[in-house]
Amino acid sequence: MKNITADELRETYLKFFESKGHTIIPGASVIPENDPTVLFTTAGMHPLVPYLMGQMPHPAGTRLTDVQKCVRTGDIDAVGDSAHLTFFEMLGNWSLNDYFKKEAISWSFEFLTTKLGFSPDQLSVTVFRGEGKEGEDGYIPADEEAVEIWKSLGIPEERIYRLPREDNWWGPAGTTGPCGPDTEMFIDTGKEKCGPDCRPGCHCGKFIEIWNDVFMQYNKNAEGKFEPLGRHNVDTGMGVERTICMMSGAPTVYDTEIFAPIMAKIGELSTVTPEDAELALKSRRIVADHMRTATFILCDPKGGVKPGNVGANYVLRRLIRRAVRYSRFLGIAPGFTVKLAEVICEKYRNVYPELAENLVQCKADLEAEENRFNQTLDKGEAMFNKVAEQLKAHGQSQISGKTAFKLYDTFGFPFEMTLEMADKAGLTVDKEGFEEANRKHQELSRTTSAGSFKAGLQDNSEVVTRMHTATHLLHAALHRVLGPTANQKGSNITAERLRFDFTWPEKMTPEQIAEVEKLVNEWIAAGIAVDKKTTTVEEAKNEGAMALFGAKYGEQVTLYSIGDVSKEICCGPHVANTSELGSFKIQKEQSSSAGVRRIKAVIGNM
Ligand code: ALA
Repeated sequence: MKNITADELRETYLKFFESKGHTIIPGASVIPENDPTVLFTTAGMHPLVPYLMGQMPHPAGTRLTDVQKCVRTGDIDAVGDSAHLTFFEMLGNWSLNDYFKKEAISWSFEFLTTKLGFSPDQLSVTVFRGEGKEGEDGYIPADEEAVEIWKSLGIPEERIYRLPREDNWWGPAGTTGPCGPDTEMFIDTGKEKCGPDCRPGCHCGKFIEIWNDVFMQYNKNAEGKFEPLGRHNVDTGMGVERTICMMSGAPTVYDTEIFAPIMAKIGELSTVTPEDAELALKSRRIVADHMRTATFILCDPKGGVKPGNVGANYVLRRLIRRAVRYSRFLGIAPGFTVKLAEVICEKYRNVYPELAENLVQCKADLEAEENRFNQTLDKGEAMFNKVAEQLKAHGQSQISGKTAFKLYDTFGFPFEMTLEMADKAGLTVDKEGFEEANRKHQELSRTTSAGSFKAGLQDNSEVVTRMHTATHLLHAALHRVLGPTANQKGSNITAERLRFDFTWPEKMTPEQIAEVEKLVNEWIAAGIAVDKKTTTVEEAKNEGAMALFGAKYGEQVTLYSIGDVSKEICCGPHVANTSELGSFKIQKEQSSSAGVRRIKAVIGNM
């Protein structure tokens, strides 16, 4: 393989597909134009959905190629490892009911082997293995056609893996739209297999996915069924960062030329190296990744996304604030967000002129948000230090729950930071006491909010709102995994965790728990919009909405829908998009009372 730069890769790719009759089109805004189902453009297909669906012809024809800026924040808590990014560029070639599998696969193979210089021996591929039974509802055949094409190109049977839907089907999960089986290409790094089951898709690092060709022949309708689209589209995606990483032999994406100037600047601004080497590495990566994403969002030509408390604005705020938090571990002085934005702009301005065009405003927004958050943190830290001094003066070593809660509630100091600082100061924190104080406070606010139906929802703070949406997803996932009798009996939310009681006669198996967690995380990663409408109980139930048994509802109720995943009558509030939850983890599954189980779960932190 060749060692090329990202600039060269984009150009080589677009020219190659131009030579195959494709028109080069500009990538779209990272803020979706007409798609309420996502907060950000998460794949090259989003801006092209109307054309993939055949609703109108694309002005540039039926063969298109582009580079699309993408933002995916579903995995934000995983950023800091060697591979996760919240912003990436995706190279794509498109057939709008024009060519199909044979051409798509052959060109992918030709590009990888002749333009990027990979050896055919390094390639392993996966294809969809089909599902259901012929003649029965929901039957989708195995993609043997793709297998034959790969074989005709010289890929032997043992390097062709037939995998289920969770590996080889692409379409925006949880939402409606065009989708279909795909074939994914992996480069074998030559490392030892991690075990007998090691195969493409395994996360041990032996096989790295480089490209995905999706054959969009289906539409996922509102009932979640796959109906033939009546068209044969091709949607492909090759990640620029990952490809460059592989071609350069760099150990991680952060070690490539793409990140080099950003990492160098972070190094220059850092004044301390945390003793914990992992924390040092993670902090540098989080700052680099989040600042790159924030800069692209703030400089987007569509504009309009500013740090705030809901939807895309909240995601942007979270990115900037996380970068600020982690910059502190490196001893980086305030004002760094602006400096990094300048470096990022310099790196990308030739390809994305909007960065230079909107840099002034971007810097002003970054500075304001950084200052706001620093003030919060400074106040919180000063308070914390006072508390720590007093405790030590009295020979005590534990911060009470009440004090921790005051730091959180009055000073907006993240509880997580209280824990971190306590640890450094050799103090402990009464976590249970914190929860208790939080609960009491919220009960108080509940009794004062005259008679409104809250269903266990005890305050409207950001994290509680996110937990509340997570509760709906959990309820929906339990229905999918255990069936419709797994019904809500009760719910209680604190800033720390959600608690959910539901009817179920026995202990859940570890597999069921894992499946529920996986579903919820998939819905979070899919970035599904949460919709709200006012309707009558009758109509909501007709639409299949879940409602609490025995609860009293008024004439008019609010119905919250999360794509085709969940519909519940509820007073809210909820986040605007599931991606704001970050991630979801079940901590405990236990008995609550006879025939009722209780789950305690947490979501990703800021
Ligand atoms: N849309 C496909 C993907 O994102 C190509 O992987």
